[in-house]
Amino acid sequence: MTTAPMPDFPAGFRWGVSTSAYQIEGATTVDGRGPSIWDTFAREPGRIVDGSTGDEACDHHHRYAEDTALLAGLGVSAYRFSISWPRIQPTGAGPALTAGLDFYDRLVDGLLAAGVDPVATLFHWDLPQALEDAGGWLNRDTAARFAEYADVTAARLGDRVKLWITLNEPFIHMSLGHGMGVHAPGRVLLFDAFPVAHHQLLGHGLAVAALRARTASPVAIANNYSPVRPAGDSDVDRAAAAYDALHNRLFTDPLLGLGYPDAPGVDPTVVRDGDLDVIAAPIEVLGVNYYNPTGIRAPEEGSPLPFEIVPLDGYPRTAFDWPVAPDGLRELLLQLRDRYGDALPEIQVTESGCAYDDAPDAQGRVDDPERIAYLDGHVRAVHEAIGAGVPVTGYFVWSLLDNWEWAEGFTKRFGLVHVDYPTQRRTPKSSYAWFRDLVRR
Ligand code: NOJ
Repeated sequence: MTTAPMPDFPAGFRWGVSTSAYQIEGATTVDGRGPSIWDTFAREPGRIVDGSTGDEACDHHHRYAEDTALLAGLGVSAYRFSISWPRIQPTGAGPALTAGLDFYDRLVDGLLAAGVDPVATLFHWDLPQALEDAGGWLNRDTAARFAEYADVTAARLGDRVKLWITLNEPFIHMSLGHGMGVHAPGRVLLFDAFPVAHHQLLGHGLAVAALRARTASPVAIANNYSPVRPAGDSDVDRAAAAYDALHNRLFTDPLLGLGYPDAPGVDPTVVRDGDLDVIAAPIEVLGVNYYNPTGIRAPEEGSPLPFEIVPLDGYPRTAFDWPVAPDGLRELLLQLRDRYGDALPEIQVTESGCAYDDAPDAQGRVDDPERIAYLDGHVRAVHEAIGAGVPVTGYFVWSLLDNWEWAEGFTKRFGLVHVDYPTQRRTPKSSYAWFRDLVRR
């Protein structure tokens, strides 16, 4: 980690932290909440490495006031959380449950009282199970249901949420959830998962229209990006371009009015007249979630895939074995600017963070110098991108709390705050103090 002083960021730059509902809330059966695909999936044997579920997670549903105090102590100007669709519409359709909305109403008011901007994500992967039973995102109707959910939610919270994010990482939900089956709902469709891409994007576009009718706040989507590092031989450029189109362009080209790229799986028969116009509804902010670059090489002869993902050598690694590559964040921000030019809206980095095996020492302190180094490098990368003219206006750390990391259960800790799950005790790590000092400057 460099010892050079951290450069100044533009006035008004938004510093925040992120979480998501199923990963922290617990309380999965209170106030009439319906089951989501993650409740179902986590109960299937062998799906989650430690056999855990999100039934309790960080018990945030009961401890939100304590967690809001942690945000206030951190001094962040924004908090990105997600709303659990099955708390609002237990079956994904019909009138909103007042008790479900009440929870987010209290959370939002508490944030505002603490001087923290509420940033709400509508879909962070916890689809109501009843919608999945009707085909989930493979079913075009789910897009219309999503817009209805956006409408009823914004009817209650639209006056106070400062930024709306429609979808979180639709690429990961498509690829891990429907392509490879390692996330809920566990479908293994490989490239036949394309309708999941299209219907999520259509749902996004319809939700943008619904939000516009209820709120004057800006609207965004949070996409996952991973700059591609070609590794090796002669055909690698074609393989790298195929992966780049799939991961980095499939969910961005159509949003910015360019239609679908030539990516594996794209099936024009799924796309109806007018859909691309709905999807390209203008948004104020593009959310960028970044963790690491991806190494790609040409596939073996006879492989069904047009690329092969390979580990990248020469980087430090997180507990997830992900390469630590802050230069990848700068690279991808510049790439977005170069690729989309004037069509690119303002960018906020809506997730950036790392997992390490943090544990309290004998005095109960949790020291996480690797996370500090990780964040320091990535914040500097954002500063460099701003210096190069990329319009980045915010940076959110994933995550406020250690939490339930999907298929990895409780085994991966991403928090600025350590959580001891048996007691639900929260202990700010040294990275919490580091980030607080950064934000304060
Ligand atoms: C992105 C996802 O949005 C979030 O839910 C997850 O915990 C982090 N990546 C870390 O894997």
